[in-house]
Amino acid sequence: MCHRLVLFCLCCWSLTGVFGDSVSVMEGDSVTLNTDRTEIREQDDITWTFGAENSIIAKIKKKKQTFNTSDVPDGRFRDRLKLDNQTGSLTITNITTEHDGVYKLEISGADLTTKIFNISVYARLSVPVIRSNSSQCSSSSSSNCSLVCSAVNVSHVTLSWYKGNSLLSSISVSDLSISLSLPLEVEYQDKNTYSCVLNNPISNQTQHLDITHLCHTCAVSLIALISAAAAVGSLLIVAAVGIFCICRKCRKIDEEVETCEVEITYAETTFYKRNAQKWKVKEESHVEYAPIAFRR
Ligand SMILES: *[C@@H]1O[C@H](CO)[C@@H](O)[C@H](O)[C@H]1NC(C)=O
Ligand SMILES: *[C@@H]1O[C@H](CO)[C@@H](O)[C@H](O)[C@H]1NC(C)=O
Ligand SMILES: *[C@@H]1O[C@H](CO)[C@@H](O)[C@H](O)[C@H]1NC(C)=O
Ligand SMILES: *[C@@H]1O[C@H](CO)[C@@H](O)[C@H](O)[C@H]1NC(C)=O
Ligand SMILES: *[C@@H]1O[C@H](CO)[C@@H](O)[C@H](O)[C@H]1NC(C)=O
Ligand SMILES: *[C@@H]1O[C@H](CO)[C@@H](O)[C@H](O)[C@H]1NC(C)=O
Ligand SMILES: *[C@@H]1O[C@H](CO)[C@@H](O)[C@H](O)[C@H]1NC(C)=O
Ligand SMILES: *[C@@H]1O[C@H](CO)[C@@H](O)[C@H](O)[C@H]1NC(C)=O
Repeated sequence: MCHRLVLFCLCCWSLTGVFGDSVSVMEGDSVTLNTDRTEIREQDDITWTFGAENSIIAKIKKKKQTFNTSDVPDGRFRDRLKLDNQTGSLTITNITTEHDGVYKLEISGADLTTKIFNISVYARLSVPVIRSNSSQCSSSSSSNCSLVCSAVNVSHVTLSWYKGNSLLSSISVSDLSISLSLPLEVEYQDKNTYSCVLNNPISNQTQHLDITHLCHTCAVSLIALISAAAAVGSLLIVAAVGIFCICRKCRKIDEEVETCEVEITYAETTFYKRNAQKWKVKEESHVEYAPIAFRR
């Protein structure tokens, strides 16, 4: 008797630990909780319960040939439980975080067997988003580009910046579902590979940083600056930003209408040494330009 008890405890300890079998699954997956029997014995009664209230979610009475699943009062297991009438194993399909928790198996027959399963359900992760956090380009005395990586509505995750394979910084969140963001400063000329990784205990998603792309968004604000300046007719600023070559090609369609293409070419700023870029803007697109600059 004592010998059997010790054996039982040892089994529990080695197989399931004090807290039972830990099962980690991804939202949307199916998980099967095994009885570890190949066949239900004739005299077996099998009961599956969920949660602290030990709500019965499945019951098998082999002798009576009854195989029943039942939902908890809040209906979270609706159409999600499948009972294997051969082994008594229970499958939960399309699992969600609501099904996170402790499941108990009790087999009473010749002897009593209990087994505990602790299911942790993790959300599917989306790829984190990297954006520029440089407010203005005009403060261009710095050769650095400010970036921020973020993940919205996450829980039980860590968000990290990696330079190659080495961890630069990270931030974690446990229970609450919140939005996370993590800043990074890089030099415009930096040739290292940077990546932002979002991970939970069972999966991860990576976004690679494209410095040339993200750290050149300043170009847009320069264009905006020029448009704004043009709108108030201030030619001084346009003259000051002398790096621009503005060419206009106009084509008369008839006496009244002419279509124009404005090409703005810029190069040789400290930020854009490597790339000269061209922007083509149709005049129909409500962008205002300085009338004098375009006079023929
Ligand atoms: C279930 O597992 C989770 C994560 O492994 C742990 O935090 C929690 O305490 C466990 N709960 C029980 C009742 O064992
Ligand atoms: C259990 O399942 C049996 C058939 O396997 C059915 O006849 C019986 O009504 C069910 N009982 C409950 C409480 O659902
Ligand atoms: C198990 O269920 C299947 C169909 O649901 C049935 O054909 C089979 O006879 C059942 N087996 C037992 C042992 O009840
Ligand atoms: C899985 O569950 C979610 C949320 O309850 C539901 O929106 C989705 O349609 C389900 N998917 C399948 C394949 O049943
Ligand atoms: C955040 O998650 C909750 C549930 O986890 C959901 O109801 C809500 O719509 C989500 N919000 C966003 C912005 O995705
Ligand atoms: C982004 O920049 C603004 C000011 O430019 C700063 O207040 C904010 O904290 C930055 N965000 C992050 C996530 O670093
Ligand atoms: C620029 O970024 C580097 C790290 O990439 C940092 O060491 C340096 O202090 C930053 N300089 C400024 C002016 O923010
Ligand atoms: C992301 O997951 C893959 C396996 O899917 C693993 O090989 C890799 O090491 C993980 N990366 C991080 C940073 O956790």
